[in-house]
Amino acid sequence: MENIDKMLIHVVDVTRKAGEPLKKAGEKNLDFKRKNENITDIVTEHDQRTERFIIEEIQKRYPDHGFIAEEGDPDEQGFKKYTWVIDPIDGTTNFVNLGKDFAISIALYVDNEPYAGIVYDVMNDEMMVGVKNQGVWINDKPFRRKKVCEELRNAIVEISFTAEKGFQENHGVEVKPLVFSLRGHRNYGVAALTIAKIAKGELEGYVSGRLFLWDYAAAGVILRELGGDFLAYPEEEHPEGFEIQNPYKPISYIGGVSENMLNKILEKLHDK
Ligand code: IPD
Ligand code: CA
Ligand code: CA
Repeated sequence: MENIDKMLIHVVDVTRKAGEPLKKAGEKNLDFKRKNENITDIVTEHDQRTERFIIEEIQKRYPDHGFIAEEGDPDEQGFKKYTWVIDPIDGTTNFVNLGKDFAISIALYVDNEPYAGIVYDVMNDEMMVGVKNQGVWINDKPFRRKKVCEELRNAIVEISFTAEKGFQENHGVEVKPLVFSLRGHRNYGVAALTIAKIAKGELEGYVSGRLFLWDYAAAGVILRELGGDFLAYPEEEHPEGFEIQNPYKPISYIGGVSENMLNKILEKLHDK
């Protein structure tokens, strides 16, 4: 049996090192390429370089581990006993336009189940690590959230026009009744940090029409470890482990600060 704690210590260290060049990169105008016809999907050389660095540093020690990484070639990837799900820069648009509010997100799956999540808010130098049934640490200190808001009318939920369009077109679900039952809605443009905010109790929910596994896997471990929950919508079409069968298929995502809040969000989405 390999020592998983040692693995995580190594990868947290790799993550910090991977973040270092990104801190300065945002000071200059950055070139980017479009990935497809969707004008919001962009990639920079930093996304690709960061991903290569992380994978190479893990492979040096653990040559038999698997990878599912956003910028990589799916033909060269896949789940193995230990699998790292990597978003080298989550929030590339924030990285390019703002030079802040982006993250490195790395989840560890063991035997096809999420086991640990690393979410590194690079510019704030905040390293969040969650391990299933063991807790969450922020910059090496154990973290517990202090308060949880359970009422929609007092809640803030991340929801965008894109999410509205996605839920409408893909599920025939209208999100406005939810939006107008909240104290506020936001759109931070960085899925991993948004989910991490929910985990910390700084946000009550998140509705997204299109998230990939690398966007939510790491922060998802942290969220569940702190008492929150999330699902791929609609739940009945996503049985447990669906992501192992189809790791490159985006999902409609709903997250909540608690199971109760997640259910309240779902009820509002189903309000006719
Ligand atoms: C994106 C961000 C954004 C979310 C998009 C993601 P990327 O990730 O997390 O917040 O709305 O769906 O694709 O492309 O910057 O890694
Ligand atoms: Ca992402
Ligand atoms: Ca990315």
